[in-house]
Amino acid sequence: MKAPKELKVKPIRNGTVIDHITANKALNVLKILGLPSKEAAVTIAMNVKSSLMGKKDIVKVEGRELESREVDKIALIAPKATINIVRDYEIVGKSKVTLSNHVNGILKCPNPNCITNTNEPVTSKFSVMDMGPLMLRCYYCERIMSNQDIEKQFK
Ligand code: CTP
Ligand code: ZN
Repeated sequence: MKAPKELKVKPIRNGTVIDHITANKALNVLKILGLPSKEAAVTIAMNVKSSLMGKKDIVKVEGRELESREVDKIALIAPKATINIVRDYEIVGKSKVTLSNHVNGILKCPNPNCITNTNEPVTSKFSVMDMGPLMLRCYYCERIMSNQDIEKQFK
């Protein structure tokens, strides 16, 4: 039997399609979004072919649009991700995630003695040292966070 030309994942009616996720990172993205949950309809595609990236993951969430804080976290895991907002089957917004030079209040410094891990009211703050693979440095204790250290916080 001849294989179908293309196997498409079903379109969604209202919600968000996170496309161009780095291959194998869909589960980290779900974690960031607090998914799976009891109610939300979620479609996941992993390691699908992409002309742009070779392989990619896709996550579709029905009935939900993302908060900017969630998008900032996704940028740390999947720097090429595209956020598509879908309303009544139409894409009404498309944007790329962006990584700024500073990552504030999102990650926990891995150094237990860092001032951000004491009772002092100091929010974590990292500067981006390298974009690919991502490497961050704590503003307070200079501890370096590797791509793997970052991923661990979204597992
Ligand atoms: N999509 C969806 N439901 C819809 C509309 C779109 O699930 N009602 C999905 C598509 O399957 C695709 C993504 O949203 O994975 C982006 O759709 P579209 O912009 O139409 O695709 P492309 O042009 O390929 O996107 P890009 O230019 O970002 O690569
Ligand atoms: Zn630190």
